[in-house]
Amino acid sequence: MIVGMDVVNPNIVPGLQGVYFTESKISDVDGTNGKLYYRGYSIESLAKDSTFEEVCYLLIEGKLPTAKELKNFDTRLKGEREIPEPVLSIINGMTGKAHPMDVLRTAVSALPAYDRKAYADSREDNLRKSIALVSKFGSITAAIGRRMSGKGYVKPDPSLTHAANFLYMLKGKAPDPNDAKILDLMLILHAEHSSNASTFSTLVTGSTLSDIYAAVTAGVATLKGPLHGGADEAALKMMREIGRPENTERYINDALGKKERIMGFGHRVYRTYDPRARIIRSTLEKLQNHSSPEVRNLTAIALREEKMMIEKLGKTKGIWPNVDLFSGPVYTSIGIEPDLFTPLFAVSRIPGWCAHLLEYWEHDRLLRPLESYTGPLDIKYVPIGKRR
Ligand SMILES: CC(C)(COP(=O)(O)OP(=O)(O)OC[C@H]1O[C@@H](n2cnc3c(N)ncnc32)[C@H](O)[C@@H]1OP(=O)(O)O)[C@@H](O)C(=O)NCCC(=O)NCCS
Repeated sequence: MIVGMDVVNPNIVPGLQGVYFTESKISDVDGTNGKLYYRGYSIESLAKDSTFEEVCYLLIEGKLPTAKELKNFDTRLKGEREIPEPVLSIINGMTGKAHPMDVLRTAVSALPAYDRKAYADSREDNLRKSIALVSKFGSITAAIGRRMSGKGYVKPDPSLTHAANFLYMLKGKAPDPNDAKILDLMLILHAEHSSNASTFSTLVTGSTLSDIYAAVTAGVATLKGPLHGGADEAALKMMREIGRPENTERYINDALGKKERIMGFGHRVYRTYDPRARIIRSTLEKLQNHSSPEVRNLTAIALREEKMMIEKLGKTKGIWPNVDLFSGPVYTSIGIEPDLFTPLFAVSRIPGWCAHLLEYWEHDRLLRPLESYTGPLDIKYVPIGKRR
């Protein structure tokens, strides 16, 4: 009998919680001890010493690059920054109420039309497409940000790093180096996280031997939800509803009383403080003295939420701050609007999605779980004219 095929006593695991479906050498999420490793390197060491470009190489190629390898990789990334003109027209044409994640998803799904070798599927071809995707996700998201603020497209600047170029394309002026450094850190922290929902859906699509563009489009669609990548935007929305730091306790007590979830807390794997949130927290501490009153206010609310939730749910239920709690004040401090938080998460996560696809395709097996059917059987078919 095939494992799991016992139709009488099926082993149903809601949300696939705790289920292993493959082996991977890409990242290790230790939910008990609050540790995260990319290819064996701790997230703390990468956050301290690395750059997003280097982390992309590490995730996709499987090792840290030499100086020469990094230079080549960087040149390839920079060479892929332009957005095909028709894709830019799609972005600029999607006006109205479309969420930026919907615009990103649509733009990404249009990319193969402008790649002459879109369906070539050797490892080398998929590596080239991965580099193009990492690069273009940044440009497309910046272009979406420009469209949202009614401004025109800004061409990429090849003299800038990935993070600095993103801010340049978004704002139309050279970014403050400190802002670019903060964004680079955020990109590193969000770059990879094992078989989270969007990576899993990327792999489900990829496992059918569909192409990389289709697979990462599925990833973008999945990331949008507020239980996953959309939590950063939802957490900021909550902070804005709280309004003032002194309202935090009342707001949270009311929400918990109504059995609502507090965004930026809890995690399927971490039952302790998310190590990425811990790293962002040190950036947040500096924002307590930021020149913008809005940033100072959001920071104070986030810190009060953190304290209160740890006391209320941390030790009792294992609901601790996650990576999305502090993103809002940090992104606000570098001038990024809430609508763009989740697309920016996709800009960070695209190397992780591509790395997983490349790895999974080495031993592809169609992902096809089972449902246990609980409905009736052998019902007599009644022609439509005789149904009541
Ligand atoms: C991420 C998340 C979906 C994980 O959920 P999960 O593993 O399915 O957790 P569970 O649903 O088993 O939660 C266990 C308990 O904690 C509660 N809980 C979980 N997250 C909570 C939160 N953010 N706020 C309040 N209570 C929460 C659940 O309601 C449940 O309570 P119960 O035992 O009384 O029913 C969940 O924590 C959540 O919705 N968080 C908010 C969204 C978020 O920040 N997402 C980003 C994740 S990086």
